[in-house]
Amino acid sequence: MAGPSGAPFARITGTGSYLPARCLTNRDLEALVDTTDEWIVARTGIRQRHIAADGEFTSDLALHACRAALAAAGRTSADVDLIIVATSTPDMVFPSSACLLQAKLGVARGAAFDVQAVCAGFVYGLATADLFVRAGQFRCALVVGAEVFSRILDWKDRSTCVLFGDGAGAVVLEASPQPGILSSHLHADGRYAGILNTPGHVAGGAIQGDPTLKMDGGAVFKLAVRVLEDSAREALAANGLGVSDVDAYIAHQANVRIISHVAKKLGISDARCIVTVDRHANTSAASIPLALDVAVRDGRVRPGHTVLLQGVGGGFTWGSVLLKY
Ligand code: ACO
Repeated sequence: MAGPSGAPFARITGTGSYLPARCLTNRDLEALVDTTDEWIVARTGIRQRHIAADGEFTSDLALHACRAALAAAGRTSADVDLIIVATSTPDMVFPSSACLLQAKLGVARGAAFDVQAVCAGFVYGLATADLFVRAGQFRCALVVGAEVFSRILDWKDRSTCVLFGDGAGAVVLEASPQPGILSSHLHADGRYAGILNTPGHVAGGAIQGDPTLKMDGGAVFKLAVRVLEDSAREALAANGLGVSDVDAYIAHQANVRIISHVAKKLGISDARCIVTVDRHANTSAASIPLALDVAVRDGRVRPGHTVLLQGVGGGFTWGSVLLKY
């Protein structure tokens, strides 16, 4: 049924992304911690990551990605009436990175807010924007995943610092008479907060506790594989679709072994899996829109394609968005 805008659907009309200029290879990391390129590639598939410059913040990365997405959609910032930024590494405690981005884009109307669901943040943000647009409350949304995880890593801890990178990806989501987002399925289970977190907080004018990322890698691996498989089946069943209907599978880019494990369990061929973790590493909330933009620009995601997006991350949070591109 059509919302007040008269348009029943919300559809992605443009994508964009941005990676900071500095590229840190696995070989570069060998000089920092006791690791090897061979170990990192074999365990994760990661070969390099990008690192934001000093003074370059989440909203700056997001700005580049949004400009590219707006250009791809044939829109300008004057058209935008909703901005959602998914991030766990905001520029500051407040205001939100979305408000800082809004000012940088020169937008002074509509709503802007951050979503904090770690590596599932982009699917949470996209699901939220979809509801607002389909309800007719906003017509043209920017949904962004942007992160500077390099700032919350312990660069002496080889078990975590090799895994992450910085970057941003964005989509323009517009009210449309044609189907776009078919359904979204979000989940959380806070009982798993202990296996992946950044526990520090600000109090008394100082950081209290450890503000760097902590992870039980084995536990994360097992949980991620299980919930991604379940969530993919849930999304396909809700739409009466089968695995063979999926033209492109874009899972959160944490680790190539997680992606291929889930794809194998579901029966999705390698050719339909979009993998960018080798070049970007894990950019948390930015990883899905970054991979989507790469696949749109190289032609693996084309108009009419059915695309399955899947996020999973700290919280624990996870979810799927199934869409027609
Ligand atoms: N270089 C070399 N050796 C290392 C490194 C490194 N960078 N890191 C750990 N090791 C060592 C360990 O110390 C250990 O040595 P030991 O046997 O002497 O004790 C050995 O390698 C094996 O360590 P494990 O942790 O058992 O290695 P595993 O095969 O489980 O791989 C990994 C670790 C890659 C973290 C894996 O558990 C994983 O992929 N987990 C998923 C985590 C993930 O992707 N997190 C991203 C954030 S969560 C998210 O985005 C959903």
